[in-house]
Amino acid sequence: MIIKVLGSAAGGGFPQWNCNTRLSRLAWDGRNGVRARTQSSIAVSADGARWVVFNASPDIRQQIANTPELQPAETGRLRNSPIAAVVLTNADVDHIAGLLSLRERQPLRLYASARVLETLHANSIFNVLAPDVVERRELPLDAQKFEIEGPDGPLGLSVEPFAVPGKVALFLEDAAKGANFGSERGDTIGLKIAATNAPKALFYIPGCAEADEAVKERVRGADCLLFDGTVYTDTEMPDRGVGQKTGRRMGHVPIAGEGGSLHAFDDVGVKRKVYIHINTTNPILEPGSDAERTVKAAGWDIAYDGMTIEL
Ligand code: MLT
Ligand code: MN
Repeated sequence: MIIKVLGSAAGGGFPQWNCNTRLSRLAWDGRNGVRARTQSSIAVSADGARWVVFNASPDIRQQIANTPELQPAETGRLRNSPIAAVVLTNADVDHIAGLLSLRERQPLRLYASARVLETLHANSIFNVLAPDVVERRELPLDAQKFEIEGPDGPLGLSVEPFAVPGKVALFLEDAAKGANFGSERGDTIGLKIAATNAPKALFYIPGCAEADEAVKERVRGADCLLFDGTVYTDTEMPDRGVGQKTGRRMGHVPIAGEGGSLHAFDDVGVKRKVYIHINTTNPILEPGSDAERTVKAAGWDIAYDGMTIEL
């Protein structure tokens, strides 16, 4: 199984279009080894030919341009794409807006939880993915193994979808519905991804509000875990004067501090841990920073666009 990180940044990308903080300045200018990053997405393939995109980011066109494996085959039909299916982990803008770029009557399968499918259904602009060519399928939560298919059949990849602590998409928040803004089970999911009949598995959890016991048990023994690295400290947005919200308020467990993810998986035998979905404020984005050294010392890698992992 081949995994390509298409976009390692959180919603907005890094640097975010309107961001002038020190970290973003370094990224705008390409200084101190700080690399720009596009918005949250990975691609996975069992055979190197047919690919499944997990989360369709607003940057998908640029991501395809940066990834020859995802470009139309030279010897294929006049219109073709190696992208055979798209799987969504929530309905945040950074994960669904790229669907709009996948129009043009290209056959695809689209998979998401019932809650996320409801959101797509309620927003008629997504009908640019004509239902007769882009078949939508519900991912059953806590399914044992669910085979992902492209328009021409199985792709040799299966997923196990599971609900994780999280929040409904920002644009769906309803303050009248209390502290969790009307969030329900299935608004945010994690996925175990494996090639059919292969022993190794990837866990992809780009959004998670708490690294609780259920999440830890779920990933026990994982060959690789791509996990929510949105913020380093819970209060880094207010601390930097760029917003009022904490990481937890946005549905993202911080890396450091009480209940953080840094050491959450220390005793569940995960072989490789990688932070992904990294916000423009997160100091791990700067090589050599204390935060970057701390996460590396704790055994974490930091995803970057183009990172390739083979399992
Ligand atoms: C998130 O992950 O919290 C969202 O992508 C934020 C957003 O929609 O900007
Ligand atoms: Mn996001």
